[in-house]
Amino acid sequence: METRSSLRFLSGADLDALGLGMGEIVDILEAAFRAKAAGGVTMPPKIFFHRGGPRFYSSMVSASPALGYAGCKWQSGDPGNPDIGLPYIQGLYILTEDATGRMRAVMDAEWITGRRTAAASGLVIGHLAKAGDRTLGILGCGLQARAHLEAVHAVRPQFDACVCYDIVPERQERFAAEMAGRFGFASIAGMSGPEEVARNSDVLVTGGPIQKDRRPVVRPDWIGRGALVVTIDYDSYVTDEAIRAMDLVLTDDYGQIEDARRNEGKFPAVTRVDATVAELVAHGKGARTSDAQRIMVFNLGIALEDLAVAVEALNRAERSGVGTMLPGPAG
Ligand SMILES: NC(=O)c1ccc[n+]([C@@H]2O[C@H](COP(=O)([O-])OP(=O)(O)OC[C@H]3O[C@@H](n4cnc5c(N)ncnc54)[C@H](O)[C@@H]3O)[C@@H](O)[C@H]2O)c1
Repeated sequence: METRSSLRFLSGADLDALGLGMGEIVDILEAAFRAKAAGGVTMPPKIFFHRGGPRFYSSMVSASPALGYAGCKWQSGDPGNPDIGLPYIQGLYILTEDATGRMRAVMDAEWITGRRTAAASGLVIGHLAKAGDRTLGILGCGLQARAHLEAVHAVRPQFDACVCYDIVPERQERFAAEMAGRFGFASIAGMSGPEEVARNSDVLVTGGPIQKDRRPVVRPDWIGRGALVVTIDYDSYVTDEAIRAMDLVLTDDYGQIEDARRNEGKFPAVTRVDATVAELVAHGKGARTSDAQRIMVFNLGIALEDLAVAVEALNRAERSGVGTMLPGPAG
Protein backbone atom coordinates (compact mmCIF):
# COMPACT_ATOMS: atom_id res chain seq x y z
CA MET A 1 0.00 0.00 0.00
CA GLU A 2 1.23 3.50 -0.83
CA THR A 3 1.37 5.78 2.23
CA ARG A 4 2.52 9.33 2.77
CA SER A 5 5.98 8.12 3.68
CA SER A 6 6.41 5.26 1.21
CA LEU A 7 8.37 5.38 -1.99
CA ARG A 8 8.53 3.17 -5.03
CA PHE A 9 11.68 1.30 -6.00
CA LEU A 10 12.08 0.43 -9.66
CA SER A 11 14.86 -1.98 -10.59
CA GLY A 12 16.27 -2.30 -14.09
CA ALA A 13 13.94 -5.27 -14.64
CA ASP A 14 10.96 -3.19 -13.46
CA LEU A 15 11.91 -0.41 -15.86
CA ASP A 16 12.21 -2.94 -18.67
CA ALA A 17 8.73 -4.24 -17.81
CA LEU A 18 7.19 -0.79 -18.39
CA GLY A 19 7.58 -1.19 -22.15
CA LEU A 20 8.95 2.33 -22.67
CA GLY A 21 10.23 2.20 -26.25
CA MET A 22 13.25 4.06 -27.61
CA GLY A 23 11.11 6.11 -30.01
CA GLU A 24 8.92 7.17 -27.08
CA ILE A 25 12.01 8.23 -25.12
CA VAL A 26 13.20 10.33 -28.08
CA ASP A 27 9.79 12.07 -28.04
CA ILE A 28 9.97 12.57 -24.26
CA LEU A 29 13.40 14.18 -24.65
CA GLU A 30 12.23 16.37 -27.51
CA ALA A 31 9.44 17.71 -25.28
CA ALA A 32 11.92 18.19 -22.41
CA PHE A 33 14.33 20.16 -24.60
CA ARG A 34 11.45 22.33 -25.83
CA ALA A 35 10.52 23.02 -22.20
CA LYS A 36 14.16 23.89 -21.52
CA ALA A 37 14.15 26.36 -24.42
CA ALA A 38 11.00 27.95 -23.03
CA GLY A 39 12.71 28.49 -19.64
CA GLY A 40 11.51 27.28 -16.27
CA VAL A 41 13.85 24.30 -15.97
CA THR A 42 16.36 24.51 -13.14
CA MET A 43 19.51 22.54 -13.85
CA PRO A 44 22.78 23.43 -12.12
CA PRO A 45 25.89 22.03 -13.85
CA LYS A 46 26.58 18.40 -13.02
CA ILE A 47 29.17 17.61 -10.37
CA PHE A 48 31.77 15.39 -12.01
CA PHE A 49 35.14 14.41 -10.63
CA HIS A 50 37.77 11.73 -10.88
CA ARG A 51 38.89 10.47 -7.53
CA GLY A 52 42.53 9.97 -8.56
CA GLY A 53 42.29 6.85 -10.70
CA PRO A 54 40.10 6.23 -13.74
CA ARG A 55 36.88 6.06 -11.69
CA PHE A 56 34.64 9.10 -11.77
CA TYR A 57 31.72 10.11 -9.62
CA SER A 58 28.96 12.39 -10.71
CA SER A 59 25.69 13.83 -9.48
CA MET A 60 23.11 15.48 -11.68
CA VAL A 61 20.12 17.42 -10.38
CA SER A 62 17.24 19.24 -12.02
CA ALA A 63 13.71 20.49 -11.39
CA SER A 64 10.92 21.06 -13.86
CA PRO A 65 7.66 22.60 -12.64
CA ALA A 66 6.14 21.59 -15.99
CA LEU A 67 6.91 17.94 -15.22
CA GLY A 68 5.95 18.45 -11.55
CA TYR A 69 9.12 16.82 -10.26
CA ALA A 70 12.72 17.39 -9.24
CA GLY A 71 15.35 14.65 -9.20
CA CYS A 72 18.92 13.64 -8.60
CA LYS A 73 21.16 11.01 -10.17
CA TRP A 74 24.20 9.73 -8.30
CA GLN A 75 26.53 7.53 -10.30
CA SER A 76 30.00 6.13 -10.63
CA GLY A 77 31.81 5.15 -13.81
CA ASP A 78 34.97 3.18 -14.42
CA PRO A 79 36.27 1.89 -17.76
CA GLY A 80 37.80 -1.06 -15.86
CA ASN A 81 34.43 -2.28 -14.60
CA PRO A 82 33.66 -4.58 -17.56
CA ASP A 83 36.86 -6.48 -16.72
CA ILE A 84 35.37 -7.39 -13.33
CA GLY A 85 31.90 -8.11 -14.68
CA LEU A 86 30.34 -4.76 -13.73
CA PRO A 87 28.76 -2.17 -16.03
CA TYR A 88 30.84 0.91 -16.82
CA ILE A 89 28.25 3.18 -15.21
CA GLN A 90 26.26 2.36 -12.07
CA GLY A 91 23.86 4.60 -10.22
CA LEU A 92 20.54 5.42 -8.59
CA TYR A 93 17.95 8.05 -9.37
CA ILE A 94 15.83 9.79 -6.70
CA LEU A 95 12.58 11.43 -7.79
CA THR A 96 10.91 14.12 -5.69
CA GLU A 97 7.41 15.55 -6.11
CA ASP A 98 7.82 19.29 -6.71
CA ALA A 99 4.57 20.43 -5.08
CA THR A 100 5.28 18.77 -1.74
CA GLY A 101 8.99 17.90 -1.76
CA ARG A 102 8.02 14.25 -1.09
CA MET A 103 10.52 11.57 -2.09
CA ARG A 104 8.41 9.50 -4.46
CA ALA A 105 10.72 6.98 -6.10
CA VAL A 106 14.19 5.51 -6.27
CA MET A 107 15.15 3.75 -9.47
CA ASP A 108 18.01 2.15 -11.31
CA ALA A 109 19.90 4.94 -13.04
CA GLU A 110 21.95 2.61 -15.20
CA TRP A 111 18.79 1.78 -17.16
CA ILE A 112 17.80 5.44 -17.47
CA THR A 113 21.29 6.58 -18.49
CA GLY A 114 21.64 3.77 -21.00
CA ARG A 115 18.36 4.60 -22.74
CA ARG A 116 18.26 8.38 -22.52
CA THR A 117 21.84 8.84 -23.78
CA ALA A 118 21.14 6.92 -26.98
CA ALA A 119 17.75 8.61 -27.31
CA ALA A 120 19.42 12.04 -27.02
CA SER A 121 21.77 11.07 -29.85
CA GLY A 122 18.73 9.83 -31.79
CA LEU A 123 17.02 13.17 -31.27
CA VAL A 124 20.04 15.03 -32.65
CA ILE A 125 20.50 12.57 -35.53
CA GLY A 126 16.82 12.91 -36.43
CA HIS A 127 17.29 16.67 -36.73
CA LEU A 128 20.76 16.86 -38.29
CA ALA A 129 21.52 13.78 -40.42
CA LYS A 130 21.12 14.14 -44.18
CA ALA A 131 18.16 12.55 -45.94
CA GLY A 132 20.34 10.02 -47.77
CA ASP A 133 22.49 8.96 -44.82
CA ARG A 134 22.59 5.21 -44.20
CA THR A 135 25.82 4.34 -42.40
CA LEU A 136 26.31 4.73 -38.67
CA GLY A 137 29.85 4.61 -37.28
CA ILE A 138 30.39 3.69 -33.65
CA LEU A 139 33.56 3.89 -31.58
CA GLY A 140 33.22 1.68 -28.51
CA CYS A 141 31.09 -1.46 -28.83
CA GLY A 142 29.44 -1.61 -25.41
CA LEU A 143 26.06 -0.81 -23.94
CA GLN A 144 25.75 2.55 -25.70
CA ALA A 145 26.62 1.10 -29.09
CA ARG A 146 23.76 -1.38 -28.75
CA ALA A 147 21.30 1.26 -27.58
CA HIS A 148 22.37 3.61 -30.38
CA LEU A 149 21.41 1.12 -33.09
CA GLU A 150 17.93 1.08 -31.61
CA ALA A 151 17.80 4.89 -31.28
CA VAL A 152 18.98 5.52 -34.82
CA HIS A 153 16.45 3.00 -36.12
CA ALA A 154 13.70 4.82 -34.20
CA VAL A 155 14.44 8.17 -35.88
CA ARG A 156 15.95 7.18 -39.24
CA PRO A 157 14.86 3.66 -40.20
CA GLN A 158 16.70 3.91 -43.53
CA PHE A 159 20.05 3.38 -41.76
CA ASP A 160 21.05 -0.15 -42.66
CA ALA A 161 24.82 -0.29 -42.19
CA CYS A 162 27.04 0.12 -39.16
CA VAL A 163 30.83 0.29 -39.03
CA CYS A 164 32.37 -0.12 -35.61
CA TYR A 165 35.57 -0.36 -33.61
CA ASP A 166 36.41 -1.40 -30.06
CA ILE A 167 39.90 -1.55 -28.57
CA VAL A 168 39.01 -5.02 -27.29
CA PRO A 169 38.66 -7.14 -30.46
CA GLU A 170 36.37 -9.74 -28.83
CA ARG A 171 33.92 -6.98 -27.81
CA GLN A 172 33.89 -5.67 -31.37
CA GLU A 173 33.28 -9.17 -32.74
CA ARG A 174 30.56 -9.90 -30.17
CA PHE A 175 28.78 -6.65 -30.98
CA ALA A 176 28.84 -7.31 -34.73
CA ALA A 177 27.63 -10.90 -34.30
CA GLU A 178 24.94 -10.05 -31.76
CA MET A 179 23.50 -6.98 -33.50
CA ALA A 180 23.67 -7.91 -37.20
CA GLY A 181 20.15 -7.85 -38.62
CA ARG A 182 18.69 -6.07 -35.60
CA PHE A 183 17.01 -2.66 -35.80
CA GLY A 184 17.31 -2.65 -39.59
CA PHE A 185 21.12 -2.90 -39.61
CA ALA A 186 21.63 -5.59 -42.22
CA SER A 187 25.38 -5.08 -42.11
CA ILE A 188 27.58 -4.51 -39.07
CA ALA A 189 31.23 -4.45 -40.02
CA GLY A 190 34.14 -4.32 -37.58
CA MET A 191 36.92 -1.99 -38.72
CA SER A 192 40.66 -1.96 -38.10
CA GLY A 193 40.60 1.29 -36.13
CA PRO A 194 38.86 4.62 -35.53
CA GLU A 195 40.13 6.14 -38.79
CA GLU A 196 38.45 3.47 -40.93
CA VAL A 197 35.22 3.91 -38.95
CA ALA A 198 35.24 7.70 -39.25
CA ARG A 199 36.03 7.67 -42.97
CA ASN A 200 33.13 5.31 -43.69
CA SER A 201 30.48 7.01 -41.54
CA ASP A 202 27.62 9.31 -42.50
CA VAL A 203 26.97 9.70 -38.80
CA LEU A 204 29.74 8.97 -36.29
CA VAL A 205 29.09 8.37 -32.59
CA THR A 206 32.15 8.44 -30.34
CA GLY A 207 31.57 6.37 -27.21
CA GLY A 208 34.99 5.64 -25.79
CA PRO A 209 35.81 6.31 -22.14
CA ILE A 210 35.78 9.83 -20.73
CA GLN A 211 39.33 10.03 -19.49
CA LYS A 212 40.88 12.52 -17.14
CA ASP A 213 43.70 13.18 -19.59
CA ARG A 214 42.31 12.99 -23.11
CA ARG A 215 44.22 11.34 -25.93
CA PRO A 216 42.10 12.32 -28.96
CA VAL A 217 42.73 10.77 -32.37
CA VAL A 218 39.91 11.71 -34.79
CA ARG A 219 41.46 14.14 -37.27
CA PRO A 220 39.56 16.62 -39.46
CA ASP A 221 40.37 14.80 -42.71
CA TRP A 222 38.81 11.59 -41.32
CA ILE A 223 35.41 13.34 -41.16
CA GLY A 224 33.75 13.33 -44.58
CA ARG A 225 31.81 16.05 -46.35
CA GLY A 226 28.38 16.42 -44.77
CA ALA A 227 29.10 14.07 -41.89
CA LEU A 228 27.52 14.42 -38.47
CA VAL A 229 29.60 13.57 -35.39
CA VAL A 230 27.85 13.05 -32.06
CA THR A 231 30.19 12.66 -29.11
CA ILE A 232 28.93 11.07 -25.91
CA ASP A 233 32.45 10.94 -24.46
CA TYR A 234 33.02 14.71 -24.23
CA ASP A 235 36.00 15.64 -26.45
CA SER A 236 37.89 12.46 -25.56
CA TYR A 237 38.03 11.04 -29.10
CA VAL A 238 38.02 14.16 -31.32
CA THR A 239 41.09 16.33 -31.81
CA ASP A 240 41.06 20.07 -31.35
CA GLU A 241 41.79 20.42 -35.08
CA ALA A 242 38.69 18.38 -35.93
CA ILE A 243 36.54 20.49 -33.62
CA ARG A 244 37.82 23.72 -35.18
CA ALA A 245 37.20 22.39 -38.71
CA MET A 246 33.46 21.87 -38.14
CA ASP A 247 30.92 24.11 -39.86
CA LEU A 248 28.53 23.85 -36.94
CA VAL A 249 29.15 22.97 -33.30
CA LEU A 250 26.25 22.23 -30.95
CA THR A 251 25.90 20.96 -27.41
CA ASP A 252 23.12 19.76 -25.16
CA ASP A 253 24.06 22.35 -22.56
CA TYR A 254 26.45 25.24 -22.96
CA GLY A 255 26.84 25.71 -19.17
CA GLN A 256 28.14 22.17 -18.82
CA ILE A 257 30.79 22.71 -21.48
CA GLU A 258 31.92 25.82 -19.63
CA ASP A 259 31.91 23.97 -16.34
CA ALA A 260 33.86 21.00 -17.72
CA ARG A 261 36.36 23.41 -19.24
CA ARG A 262 36.84 25.23 -15.93
CA ASN A 263 36.92 22.25 -13.60
CA GLU A 264 38.23 19.36 -15.73
CA GLY A 265 40.27 21.17 -18.40
CA LYS A 266 38.04 19.70 -21.13
CA PHE A 267 36.94 21.33 -24.40
CA PRO A 268 39.88 23.71 -24.96
CA ALA A 269 38.98 23.89 -28.67
CA VAL A 270 35.28 24.61 -28.21
CA THR A 271 35.54 28.37 -28.54
CA ARG A 272 32.31 28.66 -30.49
CA VAL A 273 28.95 26.93 -29.93
CA ASP A 274 26.46 27.70 -32.67
CA ALA A 275 23.39 26.40 -30.85
CA THR A 276 22.19 24.16 -28.06
CA VAL A 277 20.04 21.10 -28.69
CA ALA A 278 17.16 22.96 -27.00
CA GLU A 279 17.52 25.80 -29.50
CA LEU A 280 17.74 23.31 -32.35
CA VAL A 281 14.54 21.44 -31.50
CA ALA A 282 12.57 24.50 -30.43
CA HIS A 283 13.69 27.11 -32.96
CA GLY A 284 15.71 25.32 -35.66
CA LYS A 285 18.86 27.20 -34.61
CA GLY A 286 21.99 25.30 -35.62
CA ALA A 287 20.05 23.22 -38.17
CA ARG A 288 21.84 21.93 -41.26
CA THR A 289 21.52 24.33 -44.21
CA SER A 290 23.53 22.29 -46.72
CA ASP A 291 24.46 18.66 -47.32
CA ALA A 292 28.13 19.70 -47.33
CA GLN A 293 28.23 20.94 -43.75
CA ARG A 294 30.19 18.96 -41.19
CA ILE A 295 28.48 19.14 -37.83
CA MET A 296 29.68 18.11 -34.37
CA VAL A 297 27.37 17.78 -31.38
CA PHE A 298 28.72 17.37 -27.85
CA ASN A 299 26.03 15.53 -25.94
CA LEU A 300 27.40 15.58 -22.42
CA GLY A 301 24.16 14.17 -21.04
CA ILE A 302 21.95 16.49 -19.01
CA ALA A 303 20.00 16.06 -15.79
CA LEU A 304 16.73 17.05 -17.43
CA GLU A 305 16.90 13.97 -19.67
CA ASP A 306 17.08 11.70 -16.62
CA LEU A 307 14.25 13.59 -14.91
CA ALA A 308 11.93 13.42 -17.91
CA VAL A 309 12.45 9.67 -18.36
CA ALA A 310 12.17 8.98 -14.61
CA VAL A 311 8.85 10.85 -14.40
CA GLU A 312 7.40 8.87 -17.29
CA ALA A 313 8.66 5.64 -15.69
CA LEU A 314 7.04 6.48 -12.36
CA ASN A 315 3.74 7.42 -14.03
CA ARG A 316 3.66 4.12 -15.89
CA ALA A 317 4.73 2.14 -12.82
CA GLU A 318 1.96 3.68 -10.74
CA ARG A 319 -0.63 2.87 -13.41
CA SER A 320 0.50 -0.73 -13.78
CA GLY A 321 1.56 -1.44 -10.18
CA VAL A 322 5.17 -2.22 -11.16
CA GLY A 323 7.93 -1.92 -8.57
CA THR A 324 8.41 -2.46 -4.86
CA MET A 325 7.02 -0.12 -2.22
CA LEU A 326 9.62 0.81 0.40
CA PRO A 327 9.20 2.67 3.67
CA GLY A 328 10.03 6.33 2.99
CA PRO A 329 12.53 8.49 4.86
CA ALA A 330 9.91 9.17 7.57
CA GLY A 331 9.77 5.44 8.41
N1 LIG B 1 27.10 11.72 -22.61
C1 LIG B 1 26.34 10.94 -21.90
O1 LIG B 1 25.22 11.29 -21.56
C2 LIG B 1 26.83 9.59 -21.53
C3 LIG B 1 26.00 8.71 -20.82
C4 LIG B 1 26.43 7.42 -20.61
C5 LIG B 1 27.68 7.03 -21.05
N2 LIG B 1 28.45 7.94 -21.71
C6 LIG B 1 29.78 7.55 -22.17
O2 LIG B 1 29.61 6.63 -23.21
C7 LIG B 1 30.75 5.80 -23.27
C8 LIG B 1 30.36 4.35 -23.44
O3 LIG B 1 29.53 3.96 -22.36
P1 LIG B 1 28.99 2.47 -22.29
O4 LIG B 1 27.98 2.45 -21.19
O5 LIG B 1 28.63 1.99 -23.64
O6 LIG B 1 30.28 1.71 -21.80
P2 LIG B 1 30.68 0.17 -22.05
O7 LIG B 1 31.70 -0.17 -21.03
O8 LIG B 1 29.45 -0.67 -22.09
O9 LIG B 1 31.33 0.19 -23.48
C9 LIG B 1 32.47 0.94 -23.74
C10 LIG B 1 33.28 0.15 -24.76
O10 LIG B 1 34.30 1.02 -25.24
C11 LIG B 1 35.46 0.22 -25.45
N3 LIG B 1 36.59 1.13 -25.50
C12 LIG B 1 37.37 1.61 -24.50
N4 LIG B 1 38.27 2.46 -24.99
C13 LIG B 1 38.07 2.53 -26.32
C14 LIG B 1 38.68 3.23 -27.37
N5 LIG B 1 39.68 4.07 -27.17
N6 LIG B 1 38.20 3.04 -28.62
C15 LIG B 1 37.19 2.18 -28.87
N7 LIG B 1 36.59 1.48 -27.91
C16 LIG B 1 37.01 1.67 -26.65
C17 LIG B 1 35.46 -0.78 -24.32
O11 LIG B 1 36.26 -1.89 -24.62
C18 LIG B 1 33.97 -1.10 -24.22
O12 LIG B 1 33.62 -2.21 -25.01
C19 LIG B 1 31.52 6.12 -22.01
O13 LIG B 1 32.54 7.05 -22.30
C20 LIG B 1 30.56 6.82 -21.14
O14 LIG B 1 31.10 7.68 -20.20
C21 LIG B 1 28.05 9.18 -21.95
